[in-house]
Amino acid sequence: MNIKDLYIKFFKEHGHQEIPSAPVIPENDPSVLFNTAGMQPLVPYLMGAEHPCGKRLVNAQKCIRTNDLDEVGDTTHHTFFEMLGNWSLGDYFKKESLSWSFEFLTEILNIPVERLAVTVFAGNKLVGEDQESIKIWKDLGIKTEKIAKTADDNFWIAGNSGPCGPDSEIFYWRSDEEVPKTFDPEDVRWVEIWNNVFMQYYKDENGKITDLPQKNVDTGMGLERICAVLENVNDNYASSIWKDVIDKISKIANLPYEGNEKSMRIIADHIRTAVFIAADNSHIKPSNTDQGYILRRLIRRAIRHAKKLNIDINSNWEEQIALLIIDKYKKYYKELETNKQIVLDVLKQEKNKFSKTLEKGLKEFEKITAKLDGNLINATLAFKLYDTYGFPIELTQELALEKNLEVDLEGFKEKFKAHQELSRANSKEKFKGGLASTGEVETKYHTATHLLNAALKKVIGKDVHQMGSNITKERMRFDFSCDHKLTDSEKEQVEDLVNKWISEDLKVEVKQMSKEEALKSGAECMFIEKYPDIVTVYYIGDVSKELCGGPHVSHTNQLGKFRIKKEEASSAGVRRIKAILIDN
Ligand code: ALA
Repeated sequence: MNIKDLYIKFFKEHGHQEIPSAPVIPENDPSVLFNTAGMQPLVPYLMGAEHPCGKRLVNAQKCIRTNDLDEVGDTTHHTFFEMLGNWSLGDYFKKESLSWSFEFLTEILNIPVERLAVTVFAGNKLVGEDQESIKIWKDLGIKTEKIAKTADDNFWIAGNSGPCGPDSEIFYWRSDEEVPKTFDPEDVRWVEIWNNVFMQYYKDENGKITDLPQKNVDTGMGLERICAVLENVNDNYASSIWKDVIDKISKIANLPYEGNEKSMRIIADHIRTAVFIAADNSHIKPSNTDQGYILRRLIRRAIRHAKKLNIDINSNWEEQIALLIIDKYKKYYKELETNKQIVLDVLKQEKNKFSKTLEKGLKEFEKITAKLDGNLINATLAFKLYDTYGFPIELTQELALEKNLEVDLEGFKEKFKAHQELSRANSKEKFKGGLASTGEVETKYHTATHLLNAALKKVIGKDVHQMGSNITKERMRFDFSCDHKLTDSEKEQVEDLVNKWISEDLKVEVKQMSKEEALKSGAECMFIEKYPDIVTVYYIGDVSKELCGGPHVSHTNQLGKFRIKKEEASSAGVRRIKAILIDN
């Protein structure tokens, strides 16, 4: 059995229900582009909402972290990874959590206890030292010298605000040298393999910390890293997770891995992440904004490195790699199989687009750098590479770095702004922003989304289905299947109907039931495959029933007035409505 299956089995045996991985693109959370941790889709439940699968959960979550995208190429960085996680939602706490982590590592994975060390929270002005965890670790057999206390590294939060708490990290001695007597967390031979977070606090946007209604446990173990550790390889890409992909690239390029590691790692990682983004049910396409821009950067950088390896980029190299990845993962993530053709088309179309300009752009780059006075590529040249040849700025920077040159990034950004393409910069801000707090305003928009969905069905027809949704504090955006532009009269009817339901002050209720029962009752649902066997259904009076994780307002008169601001095409057969709620 592989580590992922062993992990899920172990926690199921300890009373956990397995939940499916949430999509890589978070729903109704505009503050982050991708799910970066298993806890992210669980925020409402860590805050006290009841989860349909109970209080003990386990899964492998598809995660994407792009802040180190340009670092990919070394032995350790990946943009996509699977995070093994187990959670207690107000159920067990430190003792069970640490004991089970210890048992799994030492008895299931057979790691000798001598090779393990831990950090615990040293305490700060707001929260005290985690003495309880220290005692538990000692009782389990971890020696005092192998327990280090830190303050900064042992308090975990996703972004700036949200559920949070002290954590305890488990480290593994990844070296052939003798294990030192005393643990030094700064020594890179000690590798962090598992994080146990004791989420009992909530940090608001001003940094104020309050108790959550319940004490939770949130853990995370990166599958790629634990595999590399157990297989005793110093290059993650040499582990069984990557070996067949690297072998395939090596075969396509007709070159050995040795000596070509960087480009092969980049191709392997970037194509894998691109496959998972393109296969997500949000149907992201390469573009110059948000997730689409990341997808574009990944594919274009992979193409550039394929070219570097002298792969004929017009051959079907990317398809061969993508098919291997789809085959490898489809057992766990069915959307890879369902959306296989979409994935292949996305890769191919982007490749066709970029391959036309790549060659010329590279020539232009050579021309620019040959005549360069000094070592700075100015903004005009960098912008030309972006605008005319489709080189993401990061690609120009990478090419520059290979020649020990620099790019005037500030100047480029100004030019970029001047061309009114602010959105990419905005998406950078989103990375910093952390999790949405699902505040009061977002909650209202969430409920309004259900009403809009129901109203569209009544006015346009039963075939209208939700294709996507995105909520910010300022507005809601709703994508739905529809084959025509809405007429003014249709828009008016939809708006009136939503406002009528709001003024009727309908009650919002929630029930739990089996997935089959929910579907039989005709409840609306976007992607049935992503829901667990027991689901939560939200009812709004008798006008709407939808599978949904919440949260929602309790009565519709809390919503204010609903107004459609815009109706436009989103993609073929999909229309988009932007709407706002105005306080009464
Ligand atoms: N959410 C915790 C982490 O990502 C477990 O480290």
